[in-house]
Amino acid sequence: MAERDVRIYEVGPRDGLQNEKAPISTEAKLRFIGLLADAGLREIEATSFVSPQAISQLADADTLMANLERRPGVRYPVLVPNERGLARAEAAGADAVCVFTAASEAFTRANINMTIAESIDAFRPVTDAAHQRGWWSRGYVSTAFGCPYQGEVGEAAVVGVAQQLLELGVDELSIGDTIGVAGPADVRRVVRALLGAGIAPEQLAMHFHDTRGTALANVSTALELGIRCFDASTGGTGGCPYAPGAAGNLASEDLIYLLEREGLSHGVDLDALLVAARDVSESLGRPLATKVGRAGGWRVP
Ligand code: HMG
Ligand code: MG
Repeated sequence: MAERDVRIYEVGPRDGLQNEKAPISTEAKLRFIGLLADAGLREIEATSFVSPQAISQLADADTLMANLERRPGVRYPVLVPNERGLARAEAAGADAVCVFTAASEAFTRANINMTIAESIDAFRPVTDAAHQRGWWSRGYVSTAFGCPYQGEVGEAAVVGVAQQLLELGVDELSIGDTIGVAGPADVRRVVRALLGAGIAPEQLAMHFHDTRGTALANVSTALELGIRCFDASTGGTGGCPYAPGAAGNLASEDLIYLLEREGLSHGVDLDALLVAARDVSESLGRPLATKVGRAGGWRVP
């Protein structure tokens, strides 16, 4: 992967679409993923190998992965919660997998019907297989800043789950503000606790949902703390059906604009990304509502 100051980890095809009720064709999803790669994104979370009853929108994961045109140098991670998902992902040709749990028991139960401890046990065969096969792997810690069922979540809980995921040998952690409640002070508190526990900034990505408009402020704060990987969704779509009240992810186009003004390289062409953003909004049948999606980049007249 070419040197970039910041890695943008695109979650639009997975997080962005998983909560959409109207069916979106596999063909439309594949076109969207192709446009994201055209724009220069090098990490595109493609889909989830979860129960089709749990997430019906991504029930076409097997077909989608099997028909994905893989661009050289692009990683296409997929979510895998258990051995059943692992078998499906492997058969479909995946080579980058994400396991996902949370810092609160109530959300973990609602989302994957496990305790946090059970989730770590369920992930072990997945991460073991990833190591044996040389796949890249990531572990998500959801509800790191607040839980839709339990409320406030302490940073010690986040650190505890993060360490258990690292013990499984994941390459990276993504720390999730699942329902979009964090502000910069929360980011400082949680990230400092993770760094203080000996976790390196290179092992961390931040995953901000923008429910209350704080995602970009949170990115700025995380940048100051040395974090250099951010999850974002082109078109600003996203949310989890098991996280009531969660709105879209931080929009990739809004993130890119901020990074450009900060003079940080990211490898993505904003105009080309807006083509992808308009494409997904057309597939969803609603106008593109992101700030930069509407305004475009800034061109000096
Ligand atoms: P369960 O019902 O407890 O599990 O679900 P089960 O083992 O009893 O299985 C129930 C049925 O599902 C069985 O089928 C299994 O075969 C099938 P049946 O016998 O009834 O016909 N099944 C599967 N089918 C296909 N693929 C599989 C699979 N596993 C079981 N992998 C389970 C437990 C984990 C499967 C379920 O709760 C699930 O799939 N949950 C996924 C929920 C999800 O995807 N949530 C969104 C992603 S997380 C997120 O968005 C947050 C994130 O963005 C970060 C952030 O924002 O914080 C990552
Ligand atoms: Mg999410």
